[in-house]
Amino acid sequence: MATPEYAPLESLLSRTIGLEPSRLGRTALQHAVATRLHALAPLTVAAYMDLLHRDSLELQALVEELVVPETWFFRDDGAFALLQGRARQLWAWQSPQPVIRVLCAPCSTGEEAYSIVIALLKGGMKLESIRVDAVDISKRLLQVARAGVYGYNSFRGKNMRIRDDYFNQVAEGVFEIDPHYGTPINWLQLNVLHGLPVAGASEQGARGDGLYDVVFCRNLLIYLSEDARNCLLSAIRRRLKGDGLLFVGHAEAMSLDRRHFSQAGDAGQFAYQQVMAAPLPSPAEQAPPEPAGASRPRPRQDIARKALRTAPQPQAPQPPPPPRTGTDQLVAEARRLADAGRYADAERVCEEALQADRLHAGAHCLSGVLAEARGNGAQAERSYRRAIYLDPRQKQALVHLSLLMEKRGGAAEAGTLRRRAAKIA
Ligand SMILES: C[S@@+](CC[C@H](N)C(=O)[O-])C[C@H]1O[C@@H](n2cnc3c(N)ncnc32)[C@H](O)[C@@H]1O
Repeated sequence: MATPEYAPLESLLSRTIGLEPSRLGRTALQHAVATRLHALAPLTVAAYMDLLHRDSLELQALVEELVVPETWFFRDDGAFALLQGRARQLWAWQSPQPVIRVLCAPCSTGEEAYSIVIALLKGGMKLESIRVDAVDISKRLLQVARAGVYGYNSFRGKNMRIRDDYFNQVAEGVFEIDPHYGTPINWLQLNVLHGLPVAGASEQGARGDGLYDVVFCRNLLIYLSEDARNCLLSAIRRRLKGDGLLFVGHAEAMSLDRRHFSQAGDAGQFAYQQVMAAPLPSPAEQAPPEPAGASRPRPRQDIARKALRTAPQPQAPQPPPPPRTGTDQLVAEARRLADAGRYADAERVCEEALQADRLHAGAHCLSGVLAEARGNGAQAERSYRRAIYLDPRQKQALVHLSLLMEKRGGAAEAGTLRRRAAKIA
């Protein structure tokens, strides 16, 4: 139980860093205060409380005593497997590779931020396409993170191989990460309850929407009061792309409001996606359905082949993309399932999307990817060609088909397809 003299301190910490003292254990708070009193002696507890309200440096010194730095490389490694899979599936194959921005808040001594970089590299990303903003309230912990030097305790579980692959042993039991892997990381000392960084803000000349592709916010929410947790989760929603991923700690998943976040990946990966507001039906969806084949042409294989042989025409400026339809959402859901390796579920949802709209190029392309994953190259080829026939600017289908043709020894067609894909922004 808290003694009455600690009550003002508990409310100060709750207001400033969102801490719910009971989550930390009250003796932890008393121990931290005792350490500071020892450093500042002679001082009474009452006088110290008074000092804390006036002196922000002393408040920071107390926070440094209170923080829980527990972390290690590839902690809860399912999260990193999902990130690596997403990189391979969605980003790494694109040319040029998109810049992928990740927020790691809080990062403690840096193991999580470096693990993110390593997972993205393993997923085929180039170092220069990766940006990680790694945030923590503790100056002391960030110094360790910047130095990148770790002991045995930072390497646990199954991922010991990363120590050989990415670190140099500098003394017995001391491992320094190759500084190369720290270059995409921007370390920031910040109280996340005062606001989150804007993606790309620290990069010279970077343009964009200020949103992150991925946010890791693991093992902080459990220490926060309900208000602070809601405040932080709202801030995350404002900073995360619509199709972005949020990773939380395993004990934190149940604190997410399912109206705002839905599970992505397997249960053990603790990954979530924002639930987007249901779109209004588009005028086309409100109109009575056309009789099958009445006005839109059915795709034909010979026409598709001809379309593939035709040199790309200069494109007029494209109109903005239409609002997401129900089929788009089914395709996005199928893609999410495929990202998580749930191929059978992904195929079921993709088929549902195709039933809803046989002319949806994205659904045909995804159907091709899933067929390829099942080892059915012939069906994959048909699906990719159909996607390209329906939408000659379907970049993913062009790239996948070019890779498939390359595997089959069709270098000439593969080259043509790749050049077509490269011209599409
Ligand atoms: C248990 S570590 C989690 C590290 C890492 N995310 C992981 O899961 O391994 C918790 C971290 O939260 C940081 N922290 C606590 N309150 C914070 C705040 N208000 N703003 C930013 N960081 C905070 C602490 O300094 C500590 O490094």
